[in-house]
Amino acid sequence: MNKNYITLGEFIISNQQDFKYSSGELSKLINSIRLAAKIVNHEVNKAGLVDIVGAAGETNIQGEDQQKLDVYANDVFKSALIKREIVCGITSEEEDDFITVEGKYNAHDNKYVVLIDPLDGSSNIDVNVSVGTIFSIYRRTTPQGMPVKKEDFLQKGSEQVAAGYIVFGTSTMLVYTTGNGVNGFTLNPAIGSFYLSHPNMTFPERGSIFSINQGNYAHFPKGVKDYIKYCQEEKEDRPYAYRYIGSMVSDFHRNMIKGGIYIYPTNSKAPKGKLRLLYECNPMAFLTEQAGGKATDGYTRILDIQPTELHERAPIFCGSLKMVEKAEAFMQKYKEN
Ligand code: AHG
Ligand code: MN
Ligand code: MN
Repeated sequence: MNKNYITLGEFIISNQQDFKYSSGELSKLINSIRLAAKIVNHEVNKAGLVDIVGAAGETNIQGEDQQKLDVYANDVFKSALIKREIVCGITSEEEDDFITVEGKYNAHDNKYVVLIDPLDGSSNIDVNVSVGTIFSIYRRTTPQGMPVKKEDFLQKGSEQVAAGYIVFGTSTMLVYTTGNGVNGFTLNPAIGSFYLSHPNMTFPERGSIFSINQGNYAHFPKGVKDYIKYCQEEKEDRPYAYRYIGSMVSDFHRNMIKGGIYIYPTNSKAPKGKLRLLYECNPMAFLTEQAGGKATDGYTRILDIQPTELHERAPIFCGSLKMVEKAEAFMQKYKEN
């Protein structure tokens, strides 16, 4: 069939047999995310029209202002997953602690937990710039039939079963992997269906875009400062173009298509960086590797980091393989032992 005529729903069904002993639970779960994505899309698209823009007057556990759409997206994804009793647990950037899903049909029997950044790039909402949603799915490690425990969420990123993002951009796309490559689906808003528009997405091995918040330059580690200088140098295929939206999902999406590196390093004011290991770094690292790229914290593969806290942060360098390797070489040079 012509790829342009495959909907996300059809794609999910036709790929279900890729999973050994699949009971269809993961397919139903991804379908729930698909539905929530459409609902959030509807709200994001009219953000400028209704009184939904602006701070909700609450702060989340990390002390950040929650925007109304943060709260809305969090509620939509939570209720899509809880009401359908399709997962046994959820943890979200916007929640203080993990949520145990209980229900009429004993949701404790479900196999999967979902970790989510419901609205990524929320400071961009008020200015009509692309935002996103990031999700990550693991098989629980504690026995089925019991309430989930924190350890079900504190798994290494290498244990992810699926991960993806929705980018609410000039068009809305859902991009995800179940460990078998990365596929992108574009929403046709007139029909309300996602169509396979970007099969087998891969990072070009080398790119010519670097993305990092250079406003923090003075506080960056020496390796990062030198890598930035390298990107700006007039030599070989450089200088690279500098692009930074401030929504990780959008920066990542552009770099995957065009070739580039995204960096959110440590800085002297944020010794572990800013991005959250569970909700941002791990899912994006899984997608990166599935798309042939590389994701590290400067020294270690992101997917090999053992998390210890739900909301912990990690520095990240991800994108085109050769670019990340080069950045790592600069980091290695100044590594303190
Ligand atoms: P969130 O909106 O979920 O809190 O995430 C914002 C993140 C990420 O999307 C973005 O790349 C980064 O913060 C931007 O941070 P700076 O403003 O420090 O560059
Ligand atoms: Mn985010
Ligand atoms: Mn967020």
